[in-house]
Amino acid sequence: MEQSGRQAWIERWRCIAYMVALVTFWTEASAQIRYSISEEVKEGSVVGNIAKDLGIDKATLKSREYRIVGSSTEPLFRLNQDDGMLYVSRKVDREEICERSNACVINLKTVLENPLEIHYVAVEVLDVNDHSPVFPEKEKRLEVFESTLPGARFQLQPARDPDGGQFTVQQYRLSHNDHFRLEVKERGEDRKMPFLILQKQLDREAMREHKLTLTAIDGGRPARSGTIEILIEVLDVNDNSPVFTKDAYSAILNENSVPGTLVIQVNATDLDEGANSEIVYSFGKEMDIHLQTIFNIDPITGEIKVTGVIDFEENESYEIDIQASDKGTIPFSTDKTVLIKVIDLNDNAPEIEVTSFSKSVPEDSRVGTTVALISVNDLDSGPNGKVSCFISEDVPFTISPSLQDNMYAIVTKSQLDREEKSFYELTVVAKDAGQPPLSSEKTISVVVSDVNDNSPQFSLSPYTFYITENNDLVSPVFSVRASDLDDGDNAHISYHILRDNNGHSIGLFLNINSENGDILALKSFDFE
Ligand SMILES: *[C@@H]1O[C@H](CO)[C@@H](O)[C@H](O)[C@H]1NC(C)=O
Repeated sequence: MEQSGRQAWIERWRCIAYMVALVTFWTEASAQIRYSISEEVKEGSVVGNIAKDLGIDKATLKSREYRIVGSSTEPLFRLNQDDGMLYVSRKVDREEICERSNACVINLKTVLENPLEIHYVAVEVLDVNDHSPVFPEKEKRLEVFESTLPGARFQLQPARDPDGGQFTVQQYRLSHNDHFRLEVKERGEDRKMPFLILQKQLDREAMREHKLTLTAIDGGRPARSGTIEILIEVLDVNDNSPVFTKDAYSAILNENSVPGTLVIQVNATDLDEGANSEIVYSFGKEMDIHLQTIFNIDPITGEIKVTGVIDFEENESYEIDIQASDKGTIPFSTDKTVLIKVIDLNDNAPEIEVTSFSKSVPEDSRVGTTVALISVNDLDSGPNGKVSCFISEDVPFTISPSLQDNMYAIVTKSQLDREEKSFYELTVVAKDAGQPPLSSEKTISVVVSDVNDNSPQFSLSPYTFYITENNDLVSPVFSVRASDLDDGDNAHISYHILRDNNGHSIGLFLNINSENGDILALKSFDFE
C-alpha cells in the first residue's frame, strides 16, 4: 500500500515534470526570431541572417536541411541553405498581404532536420506611404435647388487610402468658394466622412453651376493626395417675374386698319428656366371688355392685332393693359400698358345742314341779305376736317362765314330782279383739306319774290282808232291792252279813262271795261 502510494506520487511528479519539460520545449521551439522589412523592397533583398540568429554554424547547416513549411504556392521569402540568409523572393505589398490591419506580420514556420527543430520566424512588413488617397469617382454631381436654405448638408463619399496608420487619409480640403464649406466627421477609428454645408444661398440666375474640388490628403512626408471634382448644378425655382424688354410700348395705328393688322409686338423675358421662364401674354384682368373685341393679343408671340373697327372719330387713342405671366407652378406676372394712337384718315365727307332758310327773298332786298344759314361739319380732324365752302354757279349769292364755327350765311351779293330771274338753284359745295379731299353738295332753291317795281305798259301809245258812224252801242269800238312785268296783284291791271274837271272831253262819250280794256261808245256817232 505504501509502495503503491509512493509509486503514485512518483508518477504524479513525473507527469508534472514532463509537462514542465514539454512546455519548456514548446517555448524553446516557438521562440521567435523577429525581422522587419519595409514593404516594396526589391526582390532579393535580405530579410535577416537566420542561421546566425539561431546560432547554427554554416557548416552544420549544410548537412541539415532547413526549410520553410506550409507556405503559399508563391512564397514571399526564400531561405538560402548556403549562407543561412532569409531573402525576399518577390515584391511585398503590405496592402495586398494584410489589407488594412494595423500591424502586418507574416509568421513563417521553419523546420530544421536531423534532429528535428521547429523555429518560428515573424517578419513584420512595415508600411510605406506608397498609395495616394483615391475617391471612388472622378467627379460627383449634385443638384441643389436655389431655394435651399443655408445649413443644408450634402454627404460626400470619403477617399480611401490603402496605406495604414498615419499614411491613410488625414484631412480634407475644399477649394475656395462663397457658398459651401466643408465639415468632416469622424466615423469610427480612421474613418473620416466629408460633408458639404451650404453656407450662403445659391442663385441660379447668378450662377447655374459651381465647380468645387475636394482634396483628400494623407499623413505621409511628403503627403500624397487625391481629388474629386464636385459639380453642383443649381436647380431653378420660380423666383423671377417676367420683365418686359421695353419700359413703355406705344404704337401708331391708321384708322380703318383691317382686322389682322399688326399693331405692335411686345416681348417679355424671365430669368428663370424652363416653364418658370415661359411667358404667356394676355390682356390685363381689368381691361375693358369692349377693347377686347377691338384688339387681341397672341399668348405666345405677344403680337397685338386688330380684330374690330378702328374709328378715329370714335376713339383717338387706346390704352391697353397687358400682362406677361410665367408658367411656374406659382406663376409670377407683370403688367404693362400699351398706348395706341390712331391716325385720322380722311374718311368723312363734310356734311352740310341748312339750319334756316327763307323760302323767298324780295327782289328789292339790300345786298347782303341773308337767304339761308348753313352749318358744315366734318368728323375728321386736322386738315381732314378743315372745310371750305363755296357756291359753284355764277349767281348773285355768296357764302359768308359767320362768327360761329362752321356756320355760314348765304347772302345776296348783288341786286336781284325778279323780272330778270325769279328762281335760283344754288349748289353749295363743302370741301375738306384732306389728301385727297372729300366734298359734298347741297342744292338750295331761292325764289325771288315780286315787288311792285314795274308800271303797266300799254302795248301801243298812243292808240289811234277810228269809229264808224252809226256805231252800235253793244260791241266794243276798240280795245286797249296794257301789261305789267310784275307778278300777281302787282301785275293785275284795271283800266280807267281819265276825265277832265271841266268835263268836255271826248271821254264823256266813251266807257272802258276796267277788266279787259274794251272801250264802248255811250252814243252813236254821226260823222256829219
Ligand atoms: C425678346 O427679347 C429677347 C431678349 O432681348 C430676344 O432674345 C428675343 O428674340 C425677343 N423675342 C422677340 C419675339 O422679339
